[in-house]
Formats: sequence, C-alpha cells, structure tokens
Amino acid sequence: MNAKIAILPGDGIGPEIVAQAVKVLDALRREGLKIETETAPIGGAGYDAAGDPLPEATLRLAEAADAVLLGAVGGPQYDTLPRELRPERGLLRIRKELNLFANLRPALLYPELAAASTLKPEVVAGLDLMIVRELTGDVYFGAPRGIETRAGERVGVNTMLYSEGEIRRVARVAFDIAMKRGRRLCSVDKANVLECSELWRTVVTEVARDYPQVELTHMYVDNAAMQLVRAPKQFDVILTGNLFGDILSDEAAMLSGSIGMLPSASLDAHGKGLYEPIHGSAPDIAGQDKANPLATVLSLAMMFRYSLDDAETAGRIEAAVRKVIAAGYRTGDIYSPGCRLVSCSAMGDAVVAAL
Ligand code: IPM
Ligand code: MG
Repeated sequence: MNAKIAILPGDGIGPEIVAQAVKVLDALRREGLKIETETAPIGGAGYDAAGDPLPEATLRLAEAADAVLLGAVGGPQYDTLPRELRPERGLLRIRKELNLFANLRPALLYPELAAASTLKPEVVAGLDLMIVRELTGDVYFGAPRGIETRAGERVGVNTMLYSEGEIRRVARVAFDIAMKRGRRLCSVDKANVLECSELWRTVVTEVARDYPQVELTHMYVDNAAMQLVRAPKQFDVILTGNLFGDILSDEAAMLSGSIGMLPSASLDAHGKGLYEPIHGSAPDIAGQDKANPLATVLSLAMMFRYSLDDAETAGRIEAAVRKVIAAGYRTGDIYSPGCRLVSCSAMGDAVVAAL
C-alpha cells in the first residue's frame, strides 16, 4: 500500500480528535505501513484561512487523495455568515464535489457502555445496525430552493428530488452491505405522502430482484423513528434518503450511549471515501482536551476497510478500541462510576498502546 490521505481537522474539537487518529496512523507508519498525509483547512477554519469553507486548495488535495479524514465543522462565531460561507457548506460541497453518495453510519453498542444509553440495557444490548444514508441528493440539494416573496409574503422553498439513478446506486451499496451482514434490509421512506418516496420504494424494490438472498422490507420514516427506540435490534441494514438519514442516524447514535463513539464513511462509486465521526464540532468543550476521540479513531478503521482495502489493519484498530473500553478508559461522555476518566489525548495514547 502507498496511500495518500488528506487530513481535514476542521473546527471546534475537530483538531484534537483528529490528532488522536493521526497518532494511531503514526504508530502504524512506524511499523512500516506506507501512508502519506497532508493537512488542510475546511469549514470555519477554511473561512478563516482563505475566506471559503471549502478552499480550492483543500478540494484539490481531497480530490488527489485516496481517502479523506475529517474532524468536524461549525462554530457559533460563523453562524451569522451568509449561508454560502458557513462551515456546513464546506462539508456539503466536499460531499457533492467528490460524489460521495453513500454514507455508512454503523451503530454498535459496546457491551460495557450499555449503561451509557438512555434506553434500558435489555433494549440495546447486542445492538449492531448499519444506516446507509444517501448523501448527495434529496431536499439538501434539490432545486428550486430559496426564500422568495409570493403574493406579498415570504415563502421558504426546498425541493425533495431523487432520480432513479441516484436511488439505484445507493440501493446497490446497501444491498451489497446487507449481503455481508445479516441479509436484512429495511428501506425507510414516506411513500404514503411523497411522490419522491413512492419512486424511491419502486426503484429499491426493482434493485431487490438482483439480491434474492436479502430480505427487503419497507417502513415509513415516522414508524422507523419509533421502532428505533422501541425495538432497535429488529434492524440489520437501514437504507434511506439524505434528510431522513440525517435524523435517524442521530437517533441511532444515541442508542449506543454516546454520539462520541460512532464513525462514518461517505463513499463514491469507486471506493474513495471521506471518513468522519458523526458528531459535531462541540464548541462548548473545544480546546479542553476532553472530547471523545474514539469515533474519529473508528472512522480511521473504516477508512482502512473501505478505501484502503486493508481489513486486517481496520480490525486491529477496532480491537484496540474494544480493549481500551474493556480496560475501563472513559472520556466524560461515556463515563460511569468505577471507570477511569481520561482526557482526549490520554484516550488516544491508550488506543496506540493497545494497538
Ligand atoms: C451530518 C450533519 C450535516 C448534515 C450538517 C452539519 C450539514 O448533521 O453529517 O449528519 O446535515 O448532513
Ligand atoms: Mg446530522
């Protein structure tokens, strides 16, 4: 392997959590793994450095890399900027520019963290599901959009739009993943109300013909939101659109105790990917060395699995994380009495030691 990775720390806790994943990378490099990294600003940091949440140089670096590791973007100091200049735009644009249409968000409960979930342990024990969220379409990108005046009053407009090609390609990714897991796929939509969802359901059902071994079910998004807290273990793979996936993946994250534990991968059609924790930039604790870096470390593991074709290294990183959890290391978000409260950087050191 001779991989090039673009490192985009971003804002808030982004730099400190990414630094822990880089420690893991450095340890692997000391063992002889050939990986080059280059760092560039994105989000508010991009705006501060170049007046653009996705500076041209950052986009070019990401395009040239085999994979991208991203921390988080956003901060209160940027909230009053025009929409186009806000940190979130940098994230949305890099997803779109790199054509990262398939967003994989696993929700896995580590047995030792069952108490950190707000749900009863028996509801979440053994939880292991994967949300496949479409990431470059839907109401996030559909046109027309804007705020305009109609009949003398302001109206806000967004467009929920999916082409069958967009639905088909993300459905294939989800079916392929289901084949490697429990072979059950639940497609989530709002087909009782929305034409866009009606097409979604039709196309997903068509794709299912190529995967006779996968059991396909459909669920309305409101019911799915309820089922996720009622009986989350009924799910293996959930396939859904951009907006519903945004919402359901936060909900699924909380089942596992802390949003600080969950990684994500955003993939294009050729396995290139952007890897990021699913949590945000947590400006309230930024710079205090107390954020949980494990979601970022686990995102690095996903990078090895999905973009660098190195499942062995991915497995080693995941095993190291399981080991530090089992050994009782906890950042504040997952702390419970009797455990060992550690800082962000100490958690990173513990993972490196466990590797
Ligand atoms: C996410 C985030 C983003 C999204 C925001 C920051 C634009 O919530 O990755 O889930 O809505 O996709
Ligand atoms: Mg979100």
